[in-house]
Amino acid sequence: MPPFKSLPATVVTSIEIETLRLVLRKPHQGDVPSMARLANDSAVALMTGRLPFPYGESDAADFVRYQDEARKTGKELAFAIECRETGAFFGCIGLRFPKREVAEIGYWLGRPHWGQGLATEAARALIDHGFSTLPITSITGECRVINEASRRVMEKCGLRYVNSGLQHAPARGGALPIDRFSLARPDWASFKAWVPAVVREAAPLAELTP
Ligand SMILES: CC(C)(COP(=O)(O)OP(=O)(O)OC[C@H]1O[C@@H](n2cnc3c(N)ncnc32)[C@H](O)[C@@H]1OP(=O)(O)O)[C@@H](O)C(=O)NCCC(=O)NCCS
Repeated sequence: MPPFKSLPATVVTSIEIETLRLVLRKPHQGDVPSMARLANDSAVALMTGRLPFPYGESDAADFVRYQDEARKTGKELAFAIECRETGAFFGCIGLRFPKREVAEIGYWLGRPHWGQGLATEAARALIDHGFSTLPITSITGECRVINEASRRVMEKCGLRYVNSGLQHAPARGGALPIDRFSLARPDWASFKAWVPAVVREAAPLAELTP
């Protein structure tokens, strides 16, 4: 079975997404040193359920290998987040498919790149790509209840709070309290269809009467 119903496997494996400041592209072994340096930061890793900490080059190499396979089998679609201008590696973003019709978004950025709207820019692009190309009905996300930055990223991307609970976090060695968010396809389609209206000063009423 091809990994994604509406995209040929050959396209999925090579796809790149370009935004104003970023390129989202397939992670490769050349990313390993930067990935290990930026992810080996407790402020990054401990906010996620999946990044081990400490995080070394062998973890990064395993991630790249796993993602290569996961792309081909349709389990996950992960991207390296690269600076469009310099080609520097900034972090990762991806979609997982826990159920066939649902994609779950996850992301992290190296600390030097926080606070510039980059995660939001990458997430919006990936959400557009997901809804435009895959037969999914919703995109979900979750973050630790203490993770205000990630909560804001999801809100700015149109995901809304659904509920809270405990989530198994393999790299944290237990379960973590998390908040869950979701964006349904009709809501995404609705705000993507809005065209800005022109607002101008109306002519004074007197000028309109003969
Ligand atoms: C979450 C993360 C990706 C955000 O990256 P970023 O590029 O800084 O995000 P953006 O700049 O697009 O948006 C961040 C928003 O959170 C807000 N924010 C940041 N820290 C905050 C805090 N401590 N409290 C409240 N809001 C906060 C910012 O002000 C911004 O909102 P605004 O545009 O309304 O001002 C980054 O912090 C990160 O990688 N963290 C560690 C890993 C992680 O948490 N991954 C997500 C796991 S669910």
